[in-house]
Amino acid sequence: MANLNDDNSPASSMTEKVNTNIITLTRFLTEEQAKHKEATGDFTLLCHALQFSFKSIAYYIRRSTLINLTGLAGSANITGDDQKKLDVISNDLFIEAMRSSGKCALLVSEEEENIIFFGKVPVPDAGVSVGTIFGIHKLPDDSKGTKEDILKPGSELLAAGFTMYGASAQLVITMKGGTVNGFTLDNGLGEFILSHPNMRLPSSRAIYSVNEGNSLYWAEEVKSYFNSLKEPQNDGKPYSARYIGSMVADAYRTLLYGGIFAYPADKKSPKGKLRILYECAPMAMVFENAGGQAVDSNMKRMLDIVPADIHDRSGIFMGSFDEVERVKTFHKA
Ligand code: F6P
Repeated sequence: MANLNDDNSPASSMTEKVNTNIITLTRFLTEEQAKHKEATGDFTLLCHALQFSFKSIAYYIRRSTLINLTGLAGSANITGDDQKKLDVISNDLFIEAMRSSGKCALLVSEEEENIIFFGKVPVPDAGVSVGTIFGIHKLPDDSKGTKEDILKPGSELLAAGFTMYGASAQLVITMKGGTVNGFTLDNGLGEFILSHPNMRLPSSRAIYSVNEGNSLYWAEEVKSYFNSLKEPQNDGKPYSARYIGSMVADAYRTLLYGGIFAYPADKKSPKGKLRILYECAPMAMVFENAGGQAVDSNMKRMLDIVPADIHDRSGIFMGSFDEVERVKTFHKA
């Protein structure tokens, strides 16, 4: 039989090298579970349900223009944002996946005013739009599954991450004290494949990401900090600005390339804009586990902040370790 590898014809040089040892998210979760003797499998089952909802949302986003899912649904969510048809459908898909998993006790979502109670074990939170951010708390064994179970600092999260929906969906997940791993949805296989193992942020990078339209409302130290980035740095050049206006997309870029992402509290939004439970805390866990930092507008560690209610907000600065150190310097001054 001819050895295909010995064939030097032009056609063979175009042959795709097939990776036959693919680490799918399912395999990754199974292998992680095996490392923890005390694991009951509940977390793995919950992640399978999460994974299914991300795949479904990614599928509908890819087909949205074909099946008339673009545009507004005609309602506003609890925090005042117009709800897009995709937000509503994504939220419903997510809730059903969590309910049917049998492993989710209660759920907080940007799209829902109140906590949704399912009456079983752990807990994800979600904010759905260009991406889905999730944080999972484990309920204590004696818990009845109440609001208090969820009003906890991010440092107690069992796992956190996000999925960004694009041409191919990207899922980033980390567990308490663990590494950060990135998976890409292979649309053909229908599987999330480990594409970015052990993600680490560069310790510095001259990129800032903030809505500068709010600068009129910023505190003086915030203004001075951002102005300092526009001065020539050691290499003679100022920082570059990159702002998409979607936390998941801005965070994902920052995670890959480094820099700083900020949504500071300001005179217009004294508590900040982004929500602690399902935006700031899960992202802070991802950034810390990838070697970066995340602080609030008082320069307190984001993972130590306890939300006062389920939709409580905070200012946030997160990104490369040294870039966040620089923000702190301006706040000390
Ligand atoms: O909280 C929703 C959100 O769209 C985030 O994903 C994003 O970072 C932020 O709001 C953008 O806000 P703004 O349009 O005020 O810059």
